[in-house]
Amino acid sequence: MPPGATRRLAADAPGIAEAGALLREGRLVAIPTETVYGLGADAGNPAAVAGIYAAKERPRFNPLIAHLPDLAAARREGVFGEDAARLAEAFWPGPLTLVVPVAEGGRVSDLARADLGSVALRVPGSRLARDVLAAAGCPVAAPSANRSGRVSPTDVDHVLGDLDGRIAAVLDGGPCPVGVESTIVACLDGPPVLLRPGGVSRAEIEAVLARPLAAAGPAGAAPVSPGLLASHYAPRAAVRLGATRVLPGEAVLLFGPDAPAGLDEAALCLNLSPAGDLAEAATHLFAYLRRLDAAGPATIAVTPIPDHGLGEAILDRLARAAAPR
Ligand code: TXA
Ligand code: MG
Repeated sequence: MPPGATRRLAADAPGIAEAGALLREGRLVAIPTETVYGLGADAGNPAAVAGIYAAKERPRFNPLIAHLPDLAAARREGVFGEDAARLAEAFWPGPLTLVVPVAEGGRVSDLARADLGSVALRVPGSRLARDVLAAAGCPVAAPSANRSGRVSPTDVDHVLGDLDGRIAAVLDGGPCPVGVESTIVACLDGPPVLLRPGGVSRAEIEAVLARPLAAAGPAGAAPVSPGLLASHYAPRAAVRLGATRVLPGEAVLLFGPDAPAGLDEAALCLNLSPAGDLAEAATHLFAYLRRLDAAGPATIAVTPIPDHGLGEAILDRLARAAAPR
């Protein structure tokens, strides 16, 4: 790990050029996307990719998503069948990752793919991210820019709180507008499989495919996402889901206009969306979990959240935060 402080780059032409140059040199740069901040490295440079795991203290070599500036660049890395092409055209640039067979001559290293015959590709919706990717001129592997097991970062201070001194730079793009990670769909043999709910809802994807997405089944039946560990996004506090009554001293994560019983006994509460808007709730999810956790409660109680639209991704992240560790 290079010693010294992490540089904070501005979201302007010199900052973008510098981020691209650092990535080309094999350094680690955190970049804002519309979902969360990613910890970027040249996906074709195994030493740079290994640096991601070291900086995150990620215990295992999970495969990483390679980020590209456009569909043409993505087609050099992966083979797009009919379903993948349809989804890419409908949702890129945007919060969708497609797992497709590796293309011959693709540059994403075996390490970034964890030696799988498939590769995860994403063209981010953030214009700033695409500008950095174009400046880098290489596929950029980027998991979320947090230390392993921590809550994903949706602004620069979250990134620096976890990774200051461990990475060369962070590009400051302000808060991330979507707030939960990309939806991951595998388009390999057979019907497309939903590997992770995320920023594009299941219903939107199924409308484009004109059929239901398959669920990730038991190993062997369908591709599973090796990185989808049960406990993830873990705050220090225990997380209690579906709370309709607050217990004294709990921190509370609210959704919607209704106050649960006992709220006046809460240590602290934040509302993801007083109006009950799931997109607004997604934007606030990780930042509010961090803020409640920083107050040091034993438990964070979360009031019920609907499971449609972006609610599926929000509940997926909260279930991981609540999972036993
Ligand atoms: O929104 C996002 O997707 C963010 C931003 C930075 O782009 N990135 C992100 O990356 O969430 P990460 O590393 O936290 O999640 C990548 C997921 C992991 O669960 C991994 O197992 C899965 O993608 N994955 C990557 N390659 C795969 C493959 N070939 N087959 C199946 N799953 C794969
Ligand atoms: Mg992550």
